[in-house]
Amino acid sequence: MKLQGNTILITGGSGGIGFELASQLLRRGNTVIVTGRDQGALDAARRRLPGLWTLRSDVRDPHAIAALHERVMKDFPAMNVLINNAGIMRKVNLQTFGADLQGITEEIEINLSGSIRMVMQFLPHLKAQSHAAIVNVSSGLAFNPYPIAPIYGATKAGIHSFTQSLRVQLKQTNVKVFELAPPAVDTPLNHTFADELRGTPLMSVTKLVDEALKGIERDRPEIRVGFANVSKLMSRIAPGFILKQLSKPVDQMLAQMKQLSS
Ligand SMILES: NC(=O)c1ccc[n+]([C@@H]2O[C@H](COP(=O)([O-])OP(=O)(O)OC[C@H]3O[C@@H](n4cnc5c(N)ncnc54)[C@H](OP(=O)(O)O)[C@@H]3O)[C@@H](O)[C@H]2O)c1
Repeated sequence: MKLQGNTILITGGSGGIGFELASQLLRRGNTVIVTGRDQGALDAARRRLPGLWTLRSDVRDPHAIAALHERVMKDFPAMNVLINNAGIMRKVNLQTFGADLQGITEEIEINLSGSIRMVMQFLPHLKAQSHAAIVNVSSGLAFNPYPIAPIYGATKAGIHSFTQSLRVQLKQTNVKVFELAPPAVDTPLNHTFADELRGTPLMSVTKLVDEALKGIERDRPEIRVGFANVSKLMSRIAPGFILKQLSKPVDQMLAQMKQLSS
């Protein structure tokens, strides 16, 4: 797909991967609109990237998605690319009774339901464009669970599955469907995982986005970068081994719980 002259809507573009996508796509001559919940962060993004459009919108909220659609149809009728990027990642101890059900629901709503609702809301418009694309951001953890973040892994596996089905259902339309599966990237999302990621090299957000845009330009439907490639391969050839490696933070958590209860 040509990455020039498009009108691109990115959810969660005030920081991290979404912001870098916006920055590189703007430089290539696209119109870019980003969303986010925090107006201050959106204003700061606009100051850093003159030419960027920002709209405050929360993917958790179906009414906000409907309002966003109305606004985009009015102000950006040429919109032809949707990038479902907004996401959060949380540690969850499933043995904590009632384990923060509100937080769990929120994580599912943002990472999975929100992306699906955005697709459903914008698809009729995208189908009417001469060329269009949907990019769903999953993760290397879509292919193997990361037990310390059990809801995150489940939502990303869900996005992977949904994206595959969407691609099949849209194969006779002009809407291309991409999945971007990043490895661990140096963004605020990982700040609460500093202990778990100690010793793990984090990819720079610039390199990740370089790879992502190369993949879209080459029409690669599933763009797996760095560890995401390894993760998919290992899920096929040594699923037990990779799960054991990714389970280490939970092993530590269980040891601490045992110590506390003895
Ligand atoms: N960083 C990684 O290592 C990594 C690896 C694999 C996959 N990913 C995926 O890449 C995507 C981006 O992650 P990131 O690392 O860039 O995260 P990030 O640095 O935490 O940025 C997340 C962005 O999403 C926005 N956002 C969060 N909740 C939202 C909501 N309900 N509605 C609208 N916007 C929302 C945030 O702004 P507000 O908080 O103001 O809303 C922010 O702009 C996510 O889907 C993540 O799962 C990241």
